[in-house]
Amino acid sequence: MKKLPANLKQIIRLLNMGHFYTGTALGEKLKITRSAVWKYIKQLQTYGVEIITDKALGYSMPQPLILLDANTIKKNLEQNDLAVNIEIFNEIPSTSDYLKTKKITPNNNKKLYLCLAEQQTNGRGRLGRTWHSPFGSNIYFSCLWHFHKDISDLAGLSLVIGLALIRTLVELGISEGIKIKWPNDILWHQQKLAGVLIEINAETHGHSQVIIGVGLNVNMISADEINQPWTSLQQITGHYQDRNQIVALLIKHLADCLDQFMDLGFKSFLHEWPEHDALLHKTIHLEHGRNTVTGIACGVNERGNLIVRHDNDHVITYSSGDTVIKK
Ligand code: BTN
Repeated sequence: MKKLPANLKQIIRLLNMGHFYTGTALGEKLKITRSAVWKYIKQLQTYGVEIITDKALGYSMPQPLILLDANTIKKNLEQNDLAVNIEIFNEIPSTSDYLKTKKITPNNNKKLYLCLAEQQTNGRGRLGRTWHSPFGSNIYFSCLWHFHKDISDLAGLSLVIGLALIRTLVELGISEGIKIKWPNDILWHQQKLAGVLIEINAETHGHSQVIIGVGLNVNMISADEINQPWTSLQQITGHYQDRNQIVALLIKHLADCLDQFMDLGFKSFLHEWPEHDALLHKTIHLEHGRNTVTGIACGVNERGNLIVRHDNDHVITYSSGDTVIKK
């Protein structure tokens, strides 16, 4: 787990201005040698940050890079009374794995513990998949949350986080074509934009510590590593997005949705679901344990379980699984 060196941040800030800087000019501004500047530039390039190098003009970045910043996120939070603890890493294996190591006891002032990273070296998706997590591009966000009810009441939480993401995107003005594919993929016209990973860290009777992991593709414009259709907010909107603003909105909607879920359960979100349901009335394949079943998706019930009508007209609800829309 590493934090970003101050000099590197300063170089990024200068190159963000959009024009060329020679190594000498950067060195003078930072009071370091040209070869030290070169090492920082190389470091950025190994992170995958695109830097144009011109013998005469020096260095420039074709795309801005606004780094995550805890103070900016807190300033962007409209609700200043929201108690949040934010840790940001430059590089970490996985933000969710990091929070699992934290021994945080529940307290009454409802502090949300958040961890974000510029890059994950072992980002994890559902069902043992990898979550592609390049430097400075996207949001890799985990939140530790104490749930004071029986673990069986947690059903529906991943759908609720999906709805919190939808509320965030709507506030950003991005709603056309956005759907949730049960249980927790956020899609834009069938291309994956975000995913949610819910893990239970510890459980005692009537109390669980839950780690909510969210990966949202923000400024990623290429990724040969991803073997499914995907998109990002920059691809959808056509312009660079400030992740600090998005994280603040996400925290706000997440806190609201978690409060509502705790007080009123998933049934209080049920009316919001059909509008965003990517599967509704579609023929789907559902991988469920070792079996794959096929049927027509008919929405979700009060616990967030998927309702499927099979060929023989039997209606079965499923509490877990992976869904694919039949082509
Ligand atoms: C999925 O769609 O399969 C879920 C993806 C969840 C990815 C996020 S990124 C932040 C957090 N840390 C991880 O290692 N995974 C989650």
